[in-house]
Amino acid sequence: MGQQQKGQGGSISSKDELGKIKDQKLIRLDAYVKGKWVSATGNKRFEVTDPGTHQTLGHVADMDAHDVSKAVDAASDAFGEWSKITAKERASLLRKWYDLIVANTDDLARLLTLECGKPFTEAAGEVDYGASYIEWFAEEAKRVNGDVLPTTNNNSRMVVLKQPVGVVGVVTPYNFPSAMITRKVSAALAAGCTVVIRPACETPFSALALCELAERAGIPPGVFNVVPCSKENTPEVGKELTTNPKVRKVSFTGSTNVGKLLMSQASSTMKKISMELGGNAPFIVFEDASIHEAAEQLLFCKFRNSGQTCVCANRIYVHDKVYDEFVSVFTSLVKEKLCIGHGLAPSTNFGPMITNHGLAKTEEHLQRAVKAGAKVVVGGNRANIEAGGDFFEPTVLVNVNNDVPMTCEETFSPLCPIYRFSSEEDVVRCANNVSVGLAGYFFSRDVGRIIRVAESLEVGVVGVNTGSIESEVAPFGGVKQSGVGREGSRYGIDDYLNIKYLNVVF
Ligand code: SIN
Repeated sequence: MGQQQKGQGGSISSKDELGKIKDQKLIRLDAYVKGKWVSATGNKRFEVTDPGTHQTLGHVADMDAHDVSKAVDAASDAFGEWSKITAKERASLLRKWYDLIVANTDDLARLLTLECGKPFTEAAGEVDYGASYIEWFAEEAKRVNGDVLPTTNNNSRMVVLKQPVGVVGVVTPYNFPSAMITRKVSAALAAGCTVVIRPACETPFSALALCELAERAGIPPGVFNVVPCSKENTPEVGKELTTNPKVRKVSFTGSTNVGKLLMSQASSTMKKISMELGGNAPFIVFEDASIHEAAEQLLFCKFRNSGQTCVCANRIYVHDKVYDEFVSVFTSLVKEKLCIGHGLAPSTNFGPMITNHGLAKTEEHLQRAVKAGAKVVVGGNRANIEAGGDFFEPTVLVNVNNDVPMTCEETFSPLCPIYRFSSEEDVVRCANNVSVGLAGYFFSRDVGRIIRVAESLEVGVVGVNTGSIESEVAPFGGVKQSGVGREGSRYGIDDYLNIKYLNVVF
């Protein structure tokens, strides 16, 4: 088993690192409702820790269902005015919010690394990526066009209007504490909706910092509300956001199981929904691909955020003819290029697991695969890093059985199983033989194959000769049990709009 670079970070003090944030007002511990920073009923708070050290970062307001219903009232009261100001005015406020985020990237990235563990440069990349959605939707706000239809009667006109849906409940995950908020909220605000945001209990700081900047940008009271809560309060808060009749839409990014629960709750009041759920991305390397290019791309696609993204390569299929070469090139890259450590240590490019249940799941998936005959080529252990958090080595496996959880489910971990295949037909069948379909990747230089395989993969997003698919310009979302709706792009704003048809007879 090969050795990887590790031990980066020394003994880090999370509190000292928080102290390095230049604008300390970005560190907010209260909720934000109706334009005011407020505590929870009974001043209840929950602890947030740095996954890279397990040290406490702070105690944040623990909102319950009653607190959330007040935030929904505030968003509902603010909706009338916000939806009626011109799109140009909303665009200008969004643009100011974008400018403030860009100006504060370093502070926001440091906060993000501290609560979620991802390496600082990756965190800065997320802040930038998240901000790009705000810039995009500030422009799109001005392009919400209706239609005038060819009339079926000369004494009438048929008109289609697009109107904001109303209050949106936004529920976001811990793996992208910044970008999942901006991607949803910027589209919602651009459309004229107001929002109540429940950030993940592990990572509320980025949400609250974004809120502080939204307030500074001049987004009016009640339009933007943030209601953090603990793991214990999460079910009741989720229920309130999905059943309160004043909430007209729910937008969620997270696991398929939680998505199903929220969707069934939202059906009680027939809310509009956007669900961006789990994936199990195939990453296919055909025999005509550039092996080095594919291996480099896999390194990023698999190990970004230590394997904790829903678009991560989860099952790697390599053609029999190039299998041995690919495994050898890829494992050398893993050993040479990945450096495990606390996300704020300068050389780190591979951070901790965000949660300890994520670590436990990684170990369970690994043990079950090994028991069924898999061989670990590199990694395979917890990494003992001086900083003290939950680290697991980037791990490459071969001879992995098709029936183990690592193959059938999203691992959300740095486990990288590499399977063999020998025909295009077989590999496409395997790739599609799962209940989810978010992202898929393949490498080939054969034009006919590129079209055939891209059209056959049952996913919402395909990377061809690349492991990178994110862009504010492109529609993001899945098929099958990976969800409903699209985010980003010119399609993304539609999820926050209702269509109204007017038949005007004169
Ligand atoms: C996710 O993996 O959770 C979101 C992926 C992205 O937008 O990059």
